[in-house]
Amino acid sequence: MMPSNVSYIRSIQQRDRVFSFMAKTQPVASPDLDTRKGPILYLEGITVSFDGFRALNDLSLYIDDGELRCIIGPNGAGKTTMMDVITGKTRPDSGTAFFGQTIDLTGLNEHQIAQSGIGRKFQKPTVFEQLTVFENLELAMAGDKRVWRNFILSLGAQERERIDEVVETIGLKQEIQFLAGRLSHGQKQWLEIGMLLMQNPRLLLVDEPVAGMTPQEVEHTANLLTSLAGKHSVVVVEHDMEFVRSIAKQVTVLHEGHVLAEGTMDEVQNDPRVIEVYLGA
Ligand SMILES: Nc1ncnc2c1ncn2[C@@H]1O[C@H](COP(=O)(O)OP(=O)(O)OP(=O)(O)O)[C@@H](O)[C@H]1O
Ligand SMILES: [Mg+2]
Repeated sequence: MMPSNVSYIRSIQQRDRVFSFMAKTQPVASPDLDTRKGPILYLEGITVSFDGFRALNDLSLYIDDGELRCIIGPNGAGKTTMMDVITGKTRPDSGTAFFGQTIDLTGLNEHQIAQSGIGRKFQKPTVFEQLTVFENLELAMAGDKRVWRNFILSLGAQERERIDEVVETIGLKQEIQFLAGRLSHGQKQWLEIGMLLMQNPRLLLVDEPVAGMTPQEVEHTANLLTSLAGKHSVVVVEHDMEFVRSIAKQVTVLHEGHVLAEGTMDEVQNDPRVIEVYLGA
């Protein structure tokens, strides 16, 4: 049943966007995700071809539970395609992709993958400009069926607490009643990360988060993503090397759809193969 009297839905067009958003997002982190035996994400031997061109070529990658991993590599290396495979947007031609020990991602659709606890942040922010920061977060939480009733009636104390917690994490406490349309580019990006957090993902994928940001916004984003590690596993794709250096623990370098090198920032930056294909340019 669609509520027709939710006060903040300010136009029919806005309402339709809101409902289509809700229909797509209801991830609830899977409580039984089994990571006891190691990584939270396993990609093994993944190949993706577009008209015979191998965008991913026998790619294997393992992400540990709670880690923050940076993925770098030249344009066309396959970084975004890799995220498309993890989120079910693109099906691999071969290879296996597991979330925890038991969830076979290649057997699930995009919606089911989001529901199993994988959140993805695209480059362009998709916040609802005519709603406030609070309302955007409220809406993201309403994707969770368990709070859907409360969302229609009124928010319970627990839900308010969760919004307060997230707004604190993303650093938009002062702006909580601002319309999202009034936020800066960077603030919109953080709000979108907050909207993903409302759904409590175990794994968060973030593609080029600092493109177009001011230096202060880049620094804030570095702190934000660093603070998420531990509670969530975070995979960040970025070309801004100063930013990567500021957050990196383990770095994976992709090249021609394959892992070229992996290690600390210092290790990969001094790797002659990495310098040749990417950093030396
Ligand atoms: N839908 C598609 N159809 C055809 N080719 C594609 C498609 N998606 C990606 N490709 C190609 O696959 C290769 C990998 O693209 P991808 O977008 O994954 O690279 P990337 O590492 O994210 O690059 P960038 O740093 O520029 O974002 C590129 O050569 C790209 O042109
Ligand atoms: Mg890309």
